[in-house]
Amino acid sequence: MYGMIHRAARDMVRSAGGDELWDRILLQSGLKDDEFVSALAYPDETTFRLIGAVAAEMNLSLEEALGQFGRYWITFAHASSYSPLMKMAGDDLFGFCENLDRMHASIKISLPDVDVPSFRVIETGDASIRIGYLSSRAGLEPFVIGLFEGLLDHFNQTGEVTCVGPIDQGIEFLIQIKG
Ligand code: HEM
Repeated sequence: MYGMIHRAARDMVRSAGGDELWDRILLQSGLKDDEFVSALAYPDETTFRLIGAVAAEMNLSLEEALGQFGRYWITFAHASSYSPLMKMAGDDLFGFCENLDRMHASIKISLPDVDVPSFRVIETGDASIRIGYLSSRAGLEPFVIGLFEGLLDHFNQTGEVTCVGPIDQGIEFLIQIKG
């Protein structure tokens, strides 16, 4: 994945445990400083090795680390140069979910090798969204849950996100807005 993902993981770790924790993660993952260039794409294996080391050194399960990273990613992306893209995607969760593919497509202009997932709103209720997720990668469901939890926070809402399970094309998630 692109180096901006690695940079976000580094930021998350440093804000949780400072340079000392980060140095341990670098050592454990074997990643080098030149694997943190925002606009360069690295093999997925490198990204997964990094997240694995984050989990191990922060005493989290892989699922917990991915969930935490998903929530952090929303704050990170919103504070980055991509913030206008997030603003354009919508000012409530319903509209934002409809625009996720358009938002990721705009990223391809600056990061041409990006391999982003696709999201399709299946059904909306008064306070719920059923959404399908289609990716070339496996095992990122906890990350997706964290992302939607981060989006709930971003829109000052509370709620619950669950992975419903496989559907015809991809995996279904349910977002239930509680307040
Ligand atoms: C402006 C905000 C965002 C930017 C700049 C961005 C950018 C990226 C980038 C660079 C990747 C790595 C893919 C690669 O390198 O091949 C990625 C992956 C991903 N993005 Fe986004 N993203 C943003 C917001 C979101 C949001 C709001 C969601 C969903 C709620 C999302 C869902 C995902 C998922 C699930 C992946 C993991 C890859 C996969 O599932 O195959 N992103 N994104």
